[in-house]
Amino acid sequence: MIYASVPMDPKARHAALAREIAAHDYRYYVLDDPGVTDAQFDALLRELRAIEKEHPELATKASPSQRVGGEARPNAVKVKRKNRMFSLDNAYSAEDVAEFLRRVGEGLPDGEVPAFTVEPKLDGASIEIVYEAGHLHLATTRGDGETGEDITQNARTLRGVPLSIPYDGTLTLRGEVVIYRKDLERMNEVREKEGLEPFANPRNAAAGAVRMLDPKEVAKRPLRAIFYQAVEGAAKAPSHSATLAWLAELGLPTHRREALVAAAGIAEAIANIDRARATYPFETDGAVVKVDAYRHQDMLGETSKFPKWAVAYKFQAERGRTRVRDIVVQVGRTGALTPVAELDPVELAGTTVSRASLHNPEHLAKLDVRVGDLVEIEKAGEIIPQVLSVVLSERPKDTAPFAVPTECPICKSKVSAKLREEERPELGQEAALRCMNRTCPAQVMGRIIHFSRRFSMDIENLGEVLVEQLVEKGLVHDVADLYDLELDKLAALDRMGKKSAKNVIDGIKASKARPLDRLLCGIGIPQVGQVAAKQLATEMGTLEALLAMPEAELRERVGQIKGFGPKMVDSIVDTFADPKERAIIEKLVARGVGTPAIRAEVVTDGALSGKSFCVTGVLSRKREDVHASILAAGGEVHDGVKKTTTYLVAGEKTGQSKKDQAKKFGTEIIGEPRLEAMLRGE
Ligand code: IVH
Repeated sequence: MIYASVPMDPKARHAALAREIAAHDYRYYVLDDPGVTDAQFDALLRELRAIEKEHPELATKASPSQRVGGEARPNAVKVKRKNRMFSLDNAYSAEDVAEFLRRVGEGLPDGEVPAFTVEPKLDGASIEIVYEAGHLHLATTRGDGETGEDITQNARTLRGVPLSIPYDGTLTLRGEVVIYRKDLERMNEVREKEGLEPFANPRNAAAGAVRMLDPKEVAKRPLRAIFYQAVEGAAKAPSHSATLAWLAELGLPTHRREALVAAAGIAEAIANIDRARATYPFETDGAVVKVDAYRHQDMLGETSKFPKWAVAYKFQAERGRTRVRDIVVQVGRTGALTPVAELDPVELAGTTVSRASLHNPEHLAKLDVRVGDLVEIEKAGEIIPQVLSVVLSERPKDTAPFAVPTECPICKSKVSAKLREEERPELGQEAALRCMNRTCPAQVMGRIIHFSRRFSMDIENLGEVLVEQLVEKGLVHDVADLYDLELDKLAALDRMGKKSAKNVIDGIKASKARPLDRLLCGIGIPQVGQVAAKQLATEMGTLEALLAMPEAELRERVGQIKGFGPKMVDSIVDTFADPKERAIIEKLVARGVGTPAIRAEVVTDGALSGKSFCVTGVLSRKREDVHASILAAGGEVHDGVKKTTTYLVAGEKTGQSKKDQAKKFGTEIIGEPRLEAMLRGE
């Protein structure tokens, strides 16, 4: 209801307006059921602002007028929180859920029968909000779990998050900042009109926005928070489901889509969410199963990373159908020709897909994908979508099979067919076409980009577009030329100036100090990835030593490195014997690139001795740190899954090809918790 404008004490009128505005916000943003028109709402806000103009003391932090955003912060401030923010262990199948239930059963005393809540897993950016004495007091990002970034001013702009609540104690909430799909569409329309790049999905848009420094900018984004947990303050509620109900009563936004079930009802509850999620206003990438009673949660406890009382069930990748507009051939840094299907854009698992890899001409021929075809595509955990099949019944009349190129589309030199198994073992014996011209601009570009990547020489400010220009203009012919770039020539390039040119040169200079293993990874020796490069660097010490070593000795030394098979040894020896490669490496040495490696100690009696690991996907720690832990415990680390790999440690978004490879070699697939347990010696 709208209060009539009867003359009233300004303070009382202000309070009444603030209450009414909060109530409308709640109906609009939380219940999705607006009680007034936008114009009516604006009128209330205008009146409130007018009162504050006369009585500035009323414009407190709790006033709805303050939502538009306070002062920008000069930089990010870190805060350590009281309770660590855990992540969730993942499940991908009914068996994984059964395994979770088994562990829950084991962790509870006999006779305890747990109930479970099953709720949507919201796909956004994690947030923690603390209410103190009824007021929004502090908001932080997830950060590394223990320490987050203070984003309190930004949180004050989040729609539907009350600035004050009717609760006096400390209430610490966890939730997800999301953008509703319909809001993102509108936002993208505006962005495109303004010539800005549209956001690919709500998650990216939300995650970027919560950390912006200027709350006024944040206020312009249609961000919302949805709470899914109370870590402090819900003492009177006996369970998670009771807490969710209580939070809703306090006027806090929750997803309001939880089901409370017995173990036997979990599968159905998950399936219900999967079926319904297309109708949810927010993106949902899975279902979270939680042991409901706090009493039971406490009995189960947590590992160093995950609570043992919850698991996230990830939904299968989405599939869709679309038309092939064109098939183009890309040339990679090794000269491999990869056909790529350009597609009519389709929405798939929250992103717009407009291209899909066809791997190689043989794979393409097997699928018989043609320009104009309707194809079934899938976006699995991987970023690159796959073409699964052609819908033959929908094939237009005038299509022709794709003509396999006989020359490189970039440099026009003749291509050769070579077995591809070495590089991409998951493709088996399929033949790959390869451009054999090492000076092909596409290859040179690819090598320089690889060289500058974060896991290689980590050259700041050297983006792909710039590399393209450098190669096209003939300023750079190989990676060593980067170190000879001159400021003036660089500054004269498109979209460059003195200042950015200087930043690029500084970035390149700084990379000279990278350790030898990064350099060895960067020069792109076939078969040698980050891990092998590290081993090779430790074994050889300096680039000079590698160059100086006679071939036979090199072969012997490299052959003795743990896990280096004959193909890898050949590849290293061949690279250092090739005069063209040597010339580039000598140029690098002459420019003082590469810091000598320090010999690491080899642990022979650690918890992981005799076992080897390939670590992949997104983990809760940096991959380098996980590698270091494995090595410190005496384990071996492999870049890819090999015949001798004992375990594949599969993090989030693990690619199917890695899993298939593991199955082929009988390598056991484990999750991060298993690895952590092994590291602890369990
Ligand atoms: S409960 C102790 N419930 O998923 C773990 N998390 O992969 C508490 N998430 O960091 C998490 N929806 O940001 C929980 N309904 C939900 C969720 C959810 C999304 C996020 C959360 C967490 C991440 C873990």
